[in-house]
Amino acid sequence: MTIQKSYNDWSETYDTAVNRTRDLDEAATRETLGDRHYRSILEVGCGTGKNTAWFATIAKHVHAIDFSEGMIQKAKEKLRATNVEFSRTDITQRWPVADQSADLVTCNLVLEHIEEIAFVFAEAQRVLKKKGRLFLSELHPFRQYQGVQARFNSGSDTVHIDAFVHHTSDFLDAAQSVGFALKDFREWWHEEDTGKPPRLLTILFQK
Ligand SMILES: C[S@@+](CC[C@H](N)C(=O)[O-])C[C@H]1O[C@@H](n2cnc3c(N)ncnc32)[C@H](O)[C@@H]1O
Repeated sequence: MTIQKSYNDWSETYDTAVNRTRDLDEAATRETLGDRHYRSILEVGCGTGKNTAWFATIAKHVHAIDFSEGMIQKAKEKLRATNVEFSRTDITQRWPVADQSADLVTCNLVLEHIEEIAFVFAEAQRVLKKKGRLFLSELHPFRQYQGVQARFNSGSDTVHIDAFVHHTSDFLDAAQSVGFALKDFREWWHEEDTGKPPRLLTILFQK
């Protein structure tokens, strides 16, 4: 099953099924980005809009992009904010976003599905204004080394969504090669994760 089809199918239960990684991402994102306001946020891989409504409270305008019609549909059904625009787009192709137009690009739980992450970093660099920020939140590679990847239950089946391992150094190298400076780097555990490797990695870069 393609990644896009998988997310269309998962959109029905993404918000309601138990998912500690999703919940931890929500908390980590608010804790890391909640200290300032932005003119324009580009949310890459917005999914069902779990973070979109909150981004709308810290920005004048939010552009949320994703290639899954099902996920975007769910986000639109939930969202009450009027300062959010959605585009259905594949982020491995040029983004439908003007050069130097965003103050913050955020990408939450998406890059494990992207084989060539260099393109994403190059596009983030292109669309960010000077001193703009790129925030990444990803399933920690330590978990990937243990065989964990995005998955959901469909009836009695567990569907594993195609995923690619990106080492911590891959993120840092890809960012550095297009000129991003590292601002913040954190590892996160859910309260149920005692004794386990970190579940989530967040990295904040500045152009
Ligand atoms: C695990 S969900 C995360 C959604 C949301 N960011 C969140 O934190 O809940 C991953 C999202 O990435 C999107 N995605 C994966 N590959 C993509 C691609 N090539 N282009 C656009 N969206 C993509 C999926 O459709 C899905 O909505």
